[in-house]
Amino acid sequence: MIKTFNSKLTTPQAKNEDKVFDLTLRPNNLREFIGQEKLKENLTILIQAAQQRKEAIDHLLLYGCPGIGKTTLAHIIAHEMKVGIKITSGPALEKTGDLAALLTSLKDHDVLFIDEIHRMNKTIEETLYPAMEDYALDIIIGQGPSAKCVRLNLPKFTLIGATTRIGILSSPLRDRFGAIYRLNFYENKELEQIIDRSAKILNIEIDSNGAQEIAKRARKTPRIANRLLKRVRDFSQVKANGTINKDIAQKALKLLEIDQLGLDEIDRRILATIIHKFNGGPVGIKTIASATSEEQDTIEEVIEPFLLQLGFINRTPKGRETTPLAQKHLNTNQ
Ligand SMILES: Nc1ncnc2c1ncn2[C@@H]1O[C@H](COP(=O)(O)OP(=O)(O)OP(=O)(O)O)[C@@H](O)[C@H]1O
Ligand SMILES: [Mg+2]
Repeated sequence: MIKTFNSKLTTPQAKNEDKVFDLTLRPNNLREFIGQEKLKENLTILIQAAQQRKEAIDHLLLYGCPGIGKTTLAHIIAHEMKVGIKITSGPALEKTGDLAALLTSLKDHDVLFIDEIHRMNKTIEETLYPAMEDYALDIIIGQGPSAKCVRLNLPKFTLIGATTRIGILSSPLRDRFGAIYRLNFYENKELEQIIDRSAKILNIEIDSNGAQEIAKRARKTPRIANRLLKRVRDFSQVKANGTINKDIAQKALKLLEIDQLGLDEIDRRILATIIHKFNGGPVGIKTIASATSEEQDTIEEVIEPFLLQLGFINRTPKGRETTPLAQKHLNTNQ
């Protein structure tokens, strides 16, 4: 699955090539974090209030699509609170001991960040409940009739959970967060600012029309905006003088086969297949996958969400169908 995500330039999920890049370009404080204004306002109050009271902030749950800033915000919160942060993820916590080791290594007011919190197993989740509520860890020592339950006190920490799938989180877990925040998709203007900021950090010269051209095609997602910027920079360096303007950006993105709306060759092929081979649908996802030689997971997790958001396809009980908007877009973007 990861392999296929990796081969798609416009996937919002992190690709191998993003790892270093994500780190270099990650804003360190709320001031540098672009967009999500309401959320930033709320967080600022939460942070200031906790600091004034010399307390840890409430446990927070951040949710939203991949690549829109959840991990970044978790780091920023710890940084603004001037506390330490320990990072883990749902699938990485296999045994209760893994969680216990992390929790007992925290200092007062530190942040424990659990990414992909929806993928935590039930036992770990249940160990987390008293930790979140009472800052206590219940561990069983020994086995059989002589086994004893010992309660360990934990420092007053803040749990920050991140998820792309809030719907599958259990309600007992959800209820234990003091605040739940959703991160929204970004406006093109905000993506332009993100591209501008990244260009400065990477010493890339770009004018506002160049940034606009990239922003338009970034599928409302900062991670994709940064990735496209990097590709356009390569093009500009090889084919021009290194500076990115509208013309260069357009040429580079055309070569990458990314159209005006950020659809790439795979997205268009999927749409065209539904329209031409299946008369616009409805057609089942398995059939689409075999007709296009793409993996079903990739279609469902990467391609479809964006097409749904654009209003290019509908999900019906009988399968997927394209809308007239999709047909119109394909006609003008051959
Ligand atoms: N609001 C923002 N302002 C500036 N840059 C941002 C912003 N949000 C995200 N980015 C950039 O996008 C990159 C990806 O963001 P991040 O890793 O926080 O996403 P995520 O929501 O945690 O994704 P995933 O669900 O895949 O874990 C960051 O490294 C950063 O460079
Ligand atoms: Mg993340």
